[in-house]
Amino acid sequence: MAAERMLISGGHRLEGVVHVSGGKNTAVAIIPATILSEAPCIVENLPDIEDVHVSIETLKHLGAQVDWDPALGTMRVDASTICRTDVPLELCRRMRASYYYIGALLARFGEATVPLPGGCDIGRRPIDQHIKGLRALGAEVDNHAGTVFARANGLIGSDIFMDMVTVGGTVNVMLAATRARGVTTIYNAAKEPHIVDLANFLGSIGCRVKGAGTDVIRIYGAEKLAARRSYAVIPDQIETGTLMIAAAATHGDVTITGCIPTHMEALTAKLLEMGARVEERDDAIRVRSLGAHRGVSFKTQVYPGFPTDLQQPMSALLCTAMGTSTIVENIFESRFRHLYEMERMGANVRIYEQTAVIQGIPQLHAAAVEASDLRAGAALVIAGLMAQGTTEIYNTHFIDRGYEHLEEKLNSLGAKISRIRE
Ligand code: EPU
Repeated sequence: MAAERMLISGGHRLEGVVHVSGGKNTAVAIIPATILSEAPCIVENLPDIEDVHVSIETLKHLGAQVDWDPALGTMRVDASTICRTDVPLELCRRMRASYYYIGALLARFGEATVPLPGGCDIGRRPIDQHIKGLRALGAEVDNHAGTVFARANGLIGSDIFMDMVTVGGTVNVMLAATRARGVTTIYNAAKEPHIVDLANFLGSIGCRVKGAGTDVIRIYGAEKLAARRSYAVIPDQIETGTLMIAAAATHGDVTITGCIPTHMEALTAKLLEMGARVEERDDAIRVRSLGAHRGVSFKTQVYPGFPTDLQQPMSALLCTAMGTSTIVENIFESRFRHLYEMERMGANVRIYEQTAVIQGIPQLHAAAVEASDLRAGAALVIAGLMAQGTTEIYNTHFIDRGYEHLEEKLNSLGAKISRIRE
């Protein structure tokens, strides 16, 4: 793969209307879930991003027939031709959510062999709760030399109490429970919007799921599941938030269409507290910002708290907000690495374990910086939009994992971003 870097000429105000893409974290859960349907599934509003490409490659590797139209974001999957139940290491290394194939393959075929995931390096990311949940359903699950081997001779519904709130663990157990005999109840379940979206998708293929969006989810296992209609994934909560922050960061006036404003409450509250103006409509949000911003403090939390995935982009905005801002990162242990890159742009930051203290400065200056993960990349893009001069961002492949056409969208609003391929 040729190395690419992004060049951002900073200081241009963003103005106009931009449409948000389908959700990454919902897409990477729903694509494996198509395996569960005996009839072909059509999934719409999928983002054209690297994580979706890897998930499609995985379905094809397993033997499914996949027709993917990236321009429309529509995918048709016929899983009746699946002839294997192992996912190769090469694909798992490229996408963390490959582990959703454990739950889906186990449910449909009673076996799965999946190497442990790669994805963004943002701290320790164990999957003990996934394994605990699958075992509770009656699966034998072994983890040898970095590969998970799961087998079951008929899964049985069970009560599972998650030791911590985990999005991935909740999704994997939901997938496996779809074909289990009886009812599975997940206590202390994740409540993120993509959990609700997965539950709705499962409903569309005939699996009854109750309580998604609360911390107790019940899945009523079914012998046979089949798609009866096409399903469109929800808009991306984190892309929406990234665009909202970009609008405020450039003191712009941007309307983001096709989003779900209620998913954005935690961010909206903080932007208002900083002095930006946020107007919500049914499926659009307008963010305007005229004057200087005030610094704010927040802690990352599970939904509906402030999402860890927006902590990084938000921290870039805080670098130029007046006063002191404090961020406590409660979900992942290594999610401040982007701040060291922003120090090269003049940011005044101190990091104490899980806490970052940012002292606002009037202006960042351009520098050559390196993205260490997907949202770190988004944070550096925000910093580059604000900085004086031309910022160079290396490791742009991280950004492509999760943002559909980010620079095209920002350029349509007035940003000056280009890519150099070497
Ligand atoms: N955890 C465990 N054991 C487990 C599972 C999780 O200890 O078995 C811990 C993790 O170490 C972490 C916390 O629980 O401290 C929460 O992890 P969670 O399982 O919720 O995260 P995830 O499923 O690995 C998803 C998103 C992330 C997002 C987090 C939190 C997907 C594919 N990924 O990860 O998205 O940050 O939930 O909301 O849905 C991103 O989009 O950039 C991204 C990293």
